[in-house]
Amino acid sequence: MGKKNAGNARLEKAQDTFNKHFETIYGEERWAALQPAMLGSTRHCALLNQFVEAKEVKATLGVEDKDAEPLPFVSIPCVVKKEHDERTSTEHPFNPPKPSTTNGSRGGLRTHYLMDAASVLVTEALNVTPGLDILDLCAAPGGKSIAIAQQLFPHLHAGAIKPEHQGVKIGTLHANEMNPARRKRLRGNLEEYLPAPLFEKRKITATEHDGTKTLHFPTSHYDRVLLDAPCGSERHILHSVYEGGDEMIRWKPKASKEISAIQLELLETAVKVVKPGGLVVYATCSISPEENDDVVRSYIKRLKKRNERFKAMEAEKGEGDKYEQSEVVGRGVSVIEVEVVRRKEGFAIGEKTRYGHIVLPDTEGRWGPLYFSILRRTS
Ligand SMILES: C[S@@+](CC[C@H](N)C(=O)[O-])C[C@H]1O[C@@H](n2cnc3c(N)ncnc32)[C@H](O)[C@@H]1O
Repeated sequence: MGKKNAGNARLEKAQDTFNKHFETIYGEERWAALQPAMLGSTRHCALLNQFVEAKEVKATLGVEDKDAEPLPFVSIPCVVKKEHDERTSTEHPFNPPKPSTTNGSRGGLRTHYLMDAASVLVTEALNVTPGLDILDLCAAPGGKSIAIAQQLFPHLHAGAIKPEHQGVKIGTLHANEMNPARRKRLRGNLEEYLPAPLFEKRKITATEHDGTKTLHFPTSHYDRVLLDAPCGSERHILHSVYEGGDEMIRWKPKASKEISAIQLELLETAVKVVKPGGLVVYATCSISPEENDDVVRSYIKRLKKRNERFKAMEAEKGEGDKYEQSEVVGRGVSVIEVEVVRRKEGFAIGEKTRYGHIVLPDTEGRWGPLYFSILRRTS
């Protein structure tokens, strides 16, 4: 067999294993719809940068008012093109973003950000309001941080009536990314989209820490933590076959199991650094339950076991052990409890899972794939 034929045979075998794996998870019928949907181009909406004059943003999009419509299921202004044929289009239907000219001293910020609407939905699940302290633990290239900032800093929106906000606490956004090159890109994107005073006053910071190492972050500090975790990105693997990449050949059925160990450690950090009462949104773009619900389930199980051990230890202690007890608490081994938050009204797109929600591109809108679970730290 020639080298080329041997390569093709390996690729075919890998594709077959991949398809069988996901057929087992989703069933033959669903996978037959999901696989081609994942192979289609990623659909984008335009998130309108509210720190730029709306008139200029609209003019830059290059789409007439009559041809664009707002995304009805998110409160951040985002638009999609009406009657855009997502099945055949390989391009998003908007002009690329460009630096604005009209917002005076704040000038030069980019007009819009193109992203999957399911990603905007994830930031909505965080329930951001002005004044909160927010950590985006795995933030590059920064689309979700840019969306979060729209809701966190409304006093800086173009045309905002500032006196209303005087005396009100200004929130903070801490965007973290471990990879140095991606952190640089993150910082660049944030600066291109968000007002400069936020950086000058350190209301927005970008760091380069390993999110699995809790010691880099203040414990019980943030009101909200977004953990948009590194994941198996099966859509990317499927696309790689047609783009000359070798991701499909390198893929193994146990890939998700391996990556889930890192996801679990990142989730540990996210819950430790959120305040009691605060929310953590765990998200991935994986379609593998091992990286989604299973991570949340494993985390809850681990927490339960740890809490039981801790409580048993406490029960065994006598009065004389107070010092030892406070030492243990000081090392962060105190009881942490979480609950899964379910929105009564649900979400307008996607489907419920055991611990969260998943948006898959074989359904109406063709957004996703994106999984998220909302956890509240209760103690
Ligand atoms: C799914 S992407 C985040 C996308 C981003 N939230 C957005 O909307 O633009 C996951 C990111 O996590 C980063 N990452 C991987 N391991 C990490 C770790 N241990 N700590 C922090 N970031 C990590 C990756 O480099 C990658 O940029």
